[in-house]
Amino acid sequence: MAPTANHDLENLETIAEAVKVCTLCELCKSRHHAVPGEGKPNARIMLIGEGPGWHEDQQGRPFVGNSGKFLNELLAKAGVTREDVFITNVVKCRPPSNRDPLPDEIAACSRYLERQIELIDPDVIVTLGRFSMAKYFPGARISKIHGEAQEIGGRLIVPMYHPAAALHQSSLRGAIEDDFAKLPKLLAEVERDRAAASERESPADQLSLF
Ligand code: URA
Ligand code: SF4
Repeated sequence: MAPTANHDLENLETIAEAVKVCTLCELCKSRHHAVPGEGKPNARIMLIGEGPGWHEDQQGRPFVGNSGKFLNELLAKAGVTREDVFITNVVKCRPPSNRDPLPDEIAACSRYLERQIELIDPDVIVTLGRFSMAKYFPGARISKIHGEAQEIGGRLIVPMYHPAAALHQSSLRGAIEDDFAKLPKLLAEVERDRAAASERESPADQLSLF
């Protein structure tokens, strides 16, 4: 049975198993370890990067190199830890020499990302860099829309610069720090909206007060 048959993408563990043996695109030829992604299965926040770098390819884990260290700092400033979130990438295998992922590679790998999003069902998706941004905002310029949350399909999508880009360009560093600092407020708003919605759905609780 092909490892990518839909029934094999039933839960996050079977997705990870399918990714590890996936040969759906050329990137399988040069990878050392595929990087399915990791984190809390019912995380409210999901972060989507571009693709594994050298360290990630060595370890099979997302964001464990320098940009990962920076990402941890950014999350800490937002009062969030790695244990609170789920982190994955647009492509699960490292593009050679860290080149950009190609459209056919992104397309081939999207079945895994789609299924992860469906299963985790986060309230907020933070896209890190151009390639995950393009999934929700095709043709948009990151310099124009970074940090602006938009509701798409019932969740908030927040496009942000890629931590690696911000590490190497000091002008972007302040921007990504400011954008991450907005996360607690966004989460509080999501929480408030959800509470209001559930009150609307069960007004009986309120009526019983009289
Ligand atoms: N950059 C990414 O986009 N993803 C990783 O996992 C690491 C670096
Ligand atoms: Fe499969 Fe995605 Fe890796 Fe390509 S990048 S081989 S589609 S897991």
